[in-house]
Amino acid sequence: MPAHDALQDMIASADQSHLLKLADRLKPERRAALMQDLEEADWDKIPAWIERYVRHKPDLPIPTDVDPAPYYPADCASAVRSYDETRFRAKGEQLIRNGRVAAFIVAGGQGSRLGFEGPKGCFPGGAVTGKPLFQFFADSLLRFRDRLGVSVPLYIMTSPLNHDATVAFFKEHKHFGLDPADVTCFQQGGVPSFEMRTGRMMLTPDGRLASNPDGHGGSLTALAKSGALEDMANRGVEHISYIQVDNPIARVLDPVFLGLHADAADSSAEMSSKMLPKAYPEEKLGMFVASDGRVSVIEYSDLPMERQRETTPDGKLKFLAGNIAMHVLGRAFVERVAQTAEEALPFHRAEKKIPCLDPETLEPVSPSENNGIKLERFVFDALPSAAQSIVYETVRRDEFAPIKNAEGVDSPASSAQIQTERAAAWLERAGVQIPRNDEGKSDCVIELSTRTALWASDLADADLPKKIKPGAKVAI
Ligand code: UTP
Repeated sequence: MPAHDALQDMIASADQSHLLKLADRLKPERRAALMQDLEEADWDKIPAWIERYVRHKPDLPIPTDVDPAPYYPADCASAVRSYDETRFRAKGEQLIRNGRVAAFIVAGGQGSRLGFEGPKGCFPGGAVTGKPLFQFFADSLLRFRDRLGVSVPLYIMTSPLNHDATVAFFKEHKHFGLDPADVTCFQQGGVPSFEMRTGRMMLTPDGRLASNPDGHGGSLTALAKSGALEDMANRGVEHISYIQVDNPIARVLDPVFLGLHADAADSSAEMSSKMLPKAYPEEKLGMFVASDGRVSVIEYSDLPMERQRETTPDGKLKFLAGNIAMHVLGRAFVERVAQTAEEALPFHRAEKKIPCLDPETLEPVSPSENNGIKLERFVFDALPSAAQSIVYETVRRDEFAPIKNAEGVDSPASSAQIQTERAAAWLERAGVQIPRNDEGKSDCVIELSTRTALWASDLADADLPKKIKPGAKVAI
C-alpha cells in the first residue's frame, strides 16, 4: 500500500523521502510497521526540529551575568536565612491531607549507563533486601497514608520502551500495597533520532523508525497530553512533587518543601527546587543561579571554573546550590509550560552511538563511533518560566544516593553505602549502638525502610534493636 499523498508530502517537505524508499525495500510486515510509525510521527514539528537542532548546533543562551540563587537552608535557624519551619511543615501537611498534592516519578529513562534489563524502577536498590526502587517510593507513600490518613495519588512517567513492563511490574507486586486507583502510569513522547552526517531520520536494526524518549523535560508535555493533568485537576490536586526514579532515598513528599513552595513570600508556587551543597567546585552538578530576578540552572560545563571556585567570606562555595532534580510544580504552571514547550523547553542535542539499519545494505549496524543525534528536553529549563521560584537545601547523606552507573560513583554499591551511613547516623541518634571501623565507617549493612522512617525524628517511636553486631546485614 503506497503512502497516502498527505503523508508523502509531509515526509518530502521534511526532506526525509529516503524513509519511503527504505520502506519499499522491507518485507511486508516490517514495511507495515514502519508505515505505522511514519503515520504517527510529529511531521508538523519535525522540519523545525531538524533546522534548529540537527542541521545547526543549537545556540542555547547561557546567562553570563549570574548570581547564586538565594536558598532556604536545611537548618531553619541558620544565619544564611532563618524561617518558620513549623509553619511551612504544617502548611505542607495540610496540603497533603486536603488532597492538594500528587507524587510524580519520572521513570522513562533508558538507564543505559546502569545496563539493567528492564525499567530502572524495577532495579533491586535495597542495600539488604534488594527491594526494587519503585517500592521505596510506594513505602514512603504508605508511611504518609499511615501518618496523615490520606492516599496520595502517584503518577509515574514511563516511555514507550518500558511502559508495559512497568505496568506489569506494579500489577505483579499488587501495587506494593497502594490502591491501584491511585497509581497512574503514562507514557512520555518520543523524538526521532537523526543521522549525524546527513540529518536523516534513522531506522532501528529491525526496521522501525528510530526514536528516543524526549527527556525528563518531556514530562511536562506528557502530563498534559496523557490526561494526567486533567485527572489531577478532577482530584483537586494543585501541586506535583517531582522526583527521579533512580534515587531510592529521595523523599517522594516533603511537607516543609511543599509548604515553602506554596506559601513562602518569594514563591509564586509555580516551580520550586531542592538543592544540595556542592562538595567541591568540580563536582558535576548544575547550579541554581539568579539572573534578571529569575532562577535557572546553569550546567557545570557552562560556568567558567574560576567562577565555580569563588568563595564567600566564610569560605563556602559561592555557587553552592547543586541541582538534584527534585521539584514541586504547580499543576497550572505545568499546563501553561506544556502549551509553550517548543520555546520554554528547548531540546538539548547529544551525539550518541545509535544501533541502526544501514540504509544501503539494510543490515543492522552497531556503531563504534557516535553516528547519531538524540534530542532531549530537560525539566529544569522550565524554571525561568516561573515568576518567582524558591530553592530549598537538603542534606546530601539524608536524601541523595543515586544509582546511575554499574560501578564506581553513583552505583548500586555507593548507594548501598550511603543508605547504610544514613541509617547508622539516624539509628545512633535514636540510641542504637552501631559497630564502626577505624575510619569511623559503619561495620555493617543497614537498610532502613522508607515505611519506617523518612526523617531521623521518625525513629523516635520505632521499635529498634539496642545494637547492631559487627558485619551484620540488617533491614529495619
Ligand atoms: P538520566 O538523565 O539519569 O537518564 O535520568 P537515564 O535515561 O535514566 O540513564 P542513562 O543516561 O541512559 O544512563 C534521570 C531521570 O530522568 C528520567 C529517568 O528515568 C531518571 O529518573 N528520564 C530521563 C525520563 O523519565 N525520561 C527521559 O527521557 C530521560
